[in-house]
Amino acid sequence: MSKQLPVVGGHPTGFGATSRPDNWWVGPAATFLGLLTFLAYAHWAAFQGEHYYAHSYLSPFYSPVLWTDLAAAGSAPVEHAWLGIWPEWWPSFLPKSPALLILVFPAGFRFTCYYYRKAYYRSFAGSPPGCSVGPMAPSGKTYHGEGRLLLFQNLHRYFMYAALLYIPILFYDAFLAFYNGGNWGVGVGCFVLLLNASLLSCYTLGCHSFRHLIGGRSDCMTPCGKATTQFKLWKMSTWFNGRHMAFAWVSLFWVGFTDLYVRLVSMGVIHDYNTW
Ligand code: FES
Repeated sequence: MSKQLPVVGGHPTGFGATSRPDNWWVGPAATFLGLLTFLAYAHWAAFQGEHYYAHSYLSPFYSPVLWTDLAAAGSAPVEHAWLGIWPEWWPSFLPKSPALLILVFPAGFRFTCYYYRKAYYRSFAGSPPGCSVGPMAPSGKTYHGEGRLLLFQNLHRYFMYAALLYIPILFYDAFLAFYNGGNWGVGVGCFVLLLNASLLSCYTLGCHSFRHLIGGRSDCMTPCGKATTQFKLWKMSTWFNGRHMAFAWVSLFWVGFTDLYVRLVSMGVIHDYNTW
């Protein structure tokens, strides 16, 4: 006779125990692989410090460029660097990668996102890995709320303010992509950058903190029964918010792909079809 599992709240408890008949593990496993792949690639790309610029295309991992190291292959021209050439006083043991100076804000925004918290609590910590599934973490190490170190997550709204600043910058990069060597034109990379800025906007405008900022904190947005501009903006954010998980994934994939596209064009591995 098989051993009976203890039952709490109508479902078995214990390491990965469940009475669910469906393939509940597919979601957490796919999330684990997807996020791990992106993290590995993004770390590798951010530390390269080269091949992040190809004629008028700038990788979003490196935008905005604060300083540029002109000796690095595929680096941004000096007119694209907000503060000019890389300073002499920079310690030699630190990599001269513009990405490392600016990635903390988009990375912090993603890391503290309400959707991603669920994603990595389930897929990396397994605490629990799914509804009605026992935690994978050792006994006594399960999720007890966002206290102690996890209080860091409360910085999300501040990362959101920074993330909002990145949107016009990325659209400006996409706009500049059409202007190569003093000539206007169009190339495949222009659309890659434009789509990247658009998808990141869709992700950011659906942020729970943003939705709260523009309307969620108000008790009434329809005085006298009339929809105000604030109400319309809040409705727009609500539409994106309902699709936040989808935009989180699509924008994550596309921002990585955009870096890869620019990198491969810069290295001469692929050809960018364009009118120049
Ligand atoms: S909740 Fe996901 S970005 Fe703010």
